[in-house]
Amino acid sequence: MTTVITGNFRLAFFPSQLNGNSVRFLFRPFTTPVFKRSLTTRVRAFSTAFVETKPTEPLVEEKEDTGGGNNGLACPICYDPLIRIGESTSYVGSTAGSNLQCNTCKKTYCGNETHLDLVASSGSKQYDESMPLAAEMFRTPVVSFLYERGWRQNFIFGGFPGPEKEFDMAKNYLKPVLGGNIIDASCGSGLFTRLFAKSGLFSLVFALDYSENMLRQCYEFIEKEENFPKEKVTLVRADISRLPFKSSSVDAVHAGAALHCWPSPSTAVAEISRVLRPGGVFVATTYILDGPFGFVPFLRTFRQNIMGIAGSHIFLSERELEDLCRTCGLVGFTCVRNGLFVMISTRKPS
Ligand SMILES: C[S@@+](CC[C@H](N)C(=O)[O-])C[C@H]1O[C@@H](n2cnc3c(N)ncnc32)[C@H](O)[C@@H]1O
Repeated sequence: MTTVITGNFRLAFFPSQLNGNSVRFLFRPFTTPVFKRSLTTRVRAFSTAFVETKPTEPLVEEKEDTGGGNNGLACPICYDPLIRIGESTSYVGSTAGSNLQCNTCKKTYCGNETHLDLVASSGSKQYDESMPLAAEMFRTPVVSFLYERGWRQNFIFGGFPGPEKEFDMAKNYLKPVLGGNIIDASCGSGLFTRLFAKSGLFSLVFALDYSENMLRQCYEFIEKEENFPKEKVTLVRADISRLPFKSSSVDAVHAGAALHCWPSPSTAVAEISRVLRPGGVFVATTYILDGPFGFVPFLRTFRQNIMGIAGSHIFLSERELEDLCRTCGLVGFTCVRNGLFVMISTRKPS
């Protein structure tokens, strides 16, 4: 990065990781700590095109996440705040080259072109782990590509009213937390993320999913939209069972059509409960296999088998969902049904 002091501002030039020759301008008043540090480290080469001079201290600008830039993200191992390293920002289109570091365990988390990778195993070279089938399926490029191009539309047969209607319904439950931040948990290709961001009803939207390919789709759909408020959206790869957020830091969590895909709904809902601030709202949709299905003999045994094979959780009653939320510390459970479809709402006690 080359730093030039001009007037009352600092201009920073550095090649982006994407095309190697873009220029980014950063304006900072002289008085900031960043400026003071830049006085001692004016020039640093990132490629052979630049000549490196001897920096008297490393060109690392550390900044605790105060809620403005990296907006409440925490280490998925320590749950302590992440510190930005360098000039990284973390909204859509700017994650490439973003580096965040945990102040406690010192682990560094990197961003690529499309998202920040905040799973506990991020950066591992040898270790690889797979999720149950229901989650792994969504990690494939083909399912991710097809998801918004026909796959999701089929949910209508299970009673799902469709994204626009579901969004309207969710908005109703989210009224007490409008203006706050929201996690679109297991966002898939981001159909609700985009609606949340464009609605202007939330200050920040975290599009969170375990699938790298879903996040890529999400990024591409956002890139295609004109006048999209990208600065409001951060794409994060994370496991719902280990959310990279500080406790009590989130106003709302939305999870469309995902509860039944999570390996352990109770661990996931407990995590959601942890990150919600008092009064924060959780809205989710899923299926309930009851009604005529309630008469199927051995349904519980069948469920155990399905769960064993696919890792998908089949809910058998509204009471079961209510019990799940209650045992994870959430209160005020309500739900609406349409066939097998259910939308639930619950909140963290104030
Ligand atoms: C059926 S899609 C739902 C997408 C979108 N929310 C919707 O309403 O259409 C389920 C999503 O859950 C994600 N998922 C599965 N297991 C997950 C986990 N452990 N952590 C985070 N996301 C997970 C999948 O990658 C997939 O994108």
